[in-house]
Order: sequence, then C-alpha cells, then structure tokens
Amino acid sequence: MKTIIEPFRIKSVEPIRFTTKEERIKILEKAGYNPFLIHADDVLIDLLTDSGTSAMSSLQWAGIMQGDESYAGSKSFFRFEDAIRKITGMKFIIPTHQGRAAEKILFSITGGEGKFIPNNTHFDTTRANIEFSGAEAFDFLNEIGKHPEIRADFKGDMDIEKLEKFIIEKGKENIPMVMITITNNSGGGQPVSLKNIREVKEVCSKYRLPLFIDACRFAENAYFIKMREKGYREKSVLEISQEIFSYADGVTMSAKKDALVNIGGFLAMNDEDLAMKCRNLLIVTEGFPTYGGLAGRDLEAVAQGLEEVVDEHYLQYRIRSVEYLGEKLVNAGVPIIEPPGGHAIYIDAKRFLPEVSSEQFPGQSVTCELYIEGGIRGCEIGSVMFGKYDSDGKLIPPPMELVRLAIPRRVYTQSHIDYVSEVIIEVYKNRNKLKGYEITYQAPMLRHFTAQFKPMS
Ligand code: F0G
Repeated sequence: MKTIIEPFRIKSVEPIRFTTKEERIKILEKAGYNPFLIHADDVLIDLLTDSGTSAMSSLQWAGIMQGDESYAGSKSFFRFEDAIRKITGMKFIIPTHQGRAAEKILFSITGGEGKFIPNNTHFDTTRANIEFSGAEAFDFLNEIGKHPEIRADFKGDMDIEKLEKFIIEKGKENIPMVMITITNNSGGGQPVSLKNIREVKEVCSKYRLPLFIDACRFAENAYFIKMREKGYREKSVLEISQEIFSYADGVTMSAKKDALVNIGGFLAMNDEDLAMKCRNLLIVTEGFPTYGGLAGRDLEAVAQGLEEVVDEHYLQYRIRSVEYLGEKLVNAGVPIIEPPGGHAIYIDAKRFLPEVSSEQFPGQSVTCELYIEGGIRGCEIGSVMFGKYDSDGKLIPPPMELVRLAIPRRVYTQSHIDYVSEVIIEVYKNRNKLKGYEITYQAPMLRHFTAQFKPMS
C-alpha cells in the first residue's frame, strides 16, 4: 500500500514562530508551569485541543461570504438544517453557539433535582451542565475501556448490564434520557460499535427512555465502524452515520469537532413538545431559532463542513495520521492508551514516570517537558484536572494520569507529526531527569485552567 497523503492542497498558510529551548524555559516559568497560560504565539505545535482548531476548506470560506445574515428565516439556516437532517434524520434542529450551550438548554429542561443521566462517559461540560441543573451524571463504560494497555476495537462501548441495573435501581421515571458519547473523548477518543448502540437502544425501548447521542466526533466513530465492525466495510460513512442516528431520539453536537468549523453547535430531536421548550429557552439564552448563537455565515460553514467530514479520503487520512503518531511512539516504547483513538494520542504518564507519584502530578511534568523540549503544547488529564481531596486534605487521584495530544483537523502535515514523535521520544529517553511538581496557587473550581506550579527540588 502507498503512503496515505493529505487529501488537500494548501492555499493559505499561517507561519508558526520558532523559539529556543532557553526562551521556552523562561516562558514556562513565567506561566507558572501551566501551558494554558502560555501565549499561543510562543507555541510551535499546538495540540491542546482538536476543538475549534480545524482548517476550513475553500468552500467553507466561500460559504462564509455567502452567509445570509437575516435575523429570521435565513437561507443559511435552511442549508444548515438540511445538512444535519440528511445525516441525523432528526425532525427538529436547533442551532447553538457551541456544544455546551446545547447541553445547557437540554438539561435545564430535562434535568433537575432527583434526576439521573447515564452515559458511556460524560464529557466534563456535559457532566457540569447536568450537575448544575441539580441532576446526577453516571458513567457506565465497559470494563475493557478502563485498561489503557489492552488493545480492543470498541473501547468506548457502554456496559449494558450495569446500565439496565441502574435503570431498575433508580427508577425509569427518574431517568430523563440515556446518552452515548461518540467517540468517547474522556476515555481516549475510543469508538462505540453499532452493535452496542443497538443494544443500548433495546434497553431504552424496554423502559421507554429516549436515547441522546453526543455526536461531536460521529464521523470518526463511523469510520472506525466501517474499518472494524463486521458487515460494514461495504457501507459508506454517511450510511453508517445514518444508521447510528436512526436509533437516537436526540443529538447534541459541538460542531467545533467533526463539522470542521471554529465555532458552532446544535441540538436536534424528534419530540415536538421538547423541541418547543428548547426553542423557548434558546430565544432567552442564544437567539432566534433560525440562528441560535451563530452568525448566518457560521451556519453555512457548518453545513459545508458536515458534507466534507463524511468524505472517506479525508477520514482515512485523519484516522491514519493519529494512528501513525501512535505507532511511532509504541515502537519506541512510549506508553500510550492503545489503540490510538480518533482525535488524540493519550500518553500514560503513570507508566512514563513510575517514580513520580500522583501527588507530584506526573502528567503535568510530561506536559511541561514536551513544551521545553520542542514547543509542543499538550494537556494534562489526571490529578491536576480531576484530583479530589479527602477530609484530611489527602489527594484522591483519578484512575489514570494522562497527557492528551489532540490533533487539530487538516492543520498539521506528516512532517509536523514526525517532529512531534521525535520530541516525545527524546523526552522519554531522558525521563529519569524529569521532576514532580507542586501547586503554588489554585482556584476553587476547574483549577487546571489557572493553577500555578513549581518543580520539586
Ligand atoms: N462533548 C464532547 C464529547 C466534547 O469533547 C466537548 C468539547 C463538548 C461536548 C463540549 O463542546 O466545547 O463546543 O462546548 N470538547 C473540547 C475538547 C473542549 O477539548 O475535548 P463545546
């Protein structure tokens, strides 16, 4: 097989600024050893997130010029609605400015005290919006998904037995919906199989519960189904996506991922009564129902992006470029979540730095070193982000200490990715020089965004 190439030519380029290692040491110290606080201009390769960081196509930029900015009934809204309906089949489509805005509206109406919402793994904003409404969020990831070192095809699948037990225990009247997140971002960007989606649907039907899909990365998930699940090789990604959504009663989506845009999202559903309530709240919080929190031009870019994302040459390149980085790291012995997911590589910092305890934040240490060594910005997903404390102030670490390297869509070329792998392997070879970190400042909530650190002596 020949090299899988980037399926595009580059028409417009954005220079990146080079810094020296000495400069980066100073920059990082000034930022309190927190890469969130570094100016993006001081980053060489930015792998902080794949959200809102896609390169748009010439047709998306052309759509931006064609955006219809009418307050009501904009032509761009109808294009947006058609594009989403073609993929999801949903009857009611409600634009929002991003994914969490769709979640906020949905859970303000369906959540509240005494309600319980299960998912394979809730993303942070989903969990936060559920909890903010007074409801409780629960994760039922299959056992295999919790083992970073075990390779399996569908590590995002939900544990059906646990889900059904939970519904019986909490009472179906207290469960407004069941959710599935595709791909499972918080579990390493791992896909969910169609078999599992069908099984979840059967449980939902048995208890008459609606099924909502968090569809941020639906096309990447559908491509994994095509490649890995029996009986789907001959189906197109569009057909597979349509089958996925045929089992759903509703969808939330951050268009900043698989719609290949820099801002946007939507909420979609089949229930007319719920749609009416959501639209009423949308008018208060986001805007009129034919634009949500977006400009007409943004709606055009989303519609065009949704057509492009199901292109299989694009998806082959996309999934392969993440897998390619994963392969290079695994061959050099660097511990990562295996197999690589759709949008990111997750370094297993516990195995990378076994001498550094969770109290000393191994993920933060690897993240800082990647910046110093090569100007690469990743993101700690471990005790800094999710650590809790008991009544004696002792850290209760989360199950994994990870560093996420999220790959923006259509932004970096193969040589950028080669460079990233060289830097990581270099840091891994010198891992015995890495130190733990301690926190010198932290905010009471979501501390990872603003915390300040200092290296342990
Ligand atoms: N659901 C999932 C699975 C996500 O990954 C995200 C965002 C959201 C919902 C919220 O969407 O940002 O548009 O409000 N994930 C980003 C990330 C922030 O870096 O993984 P949003």
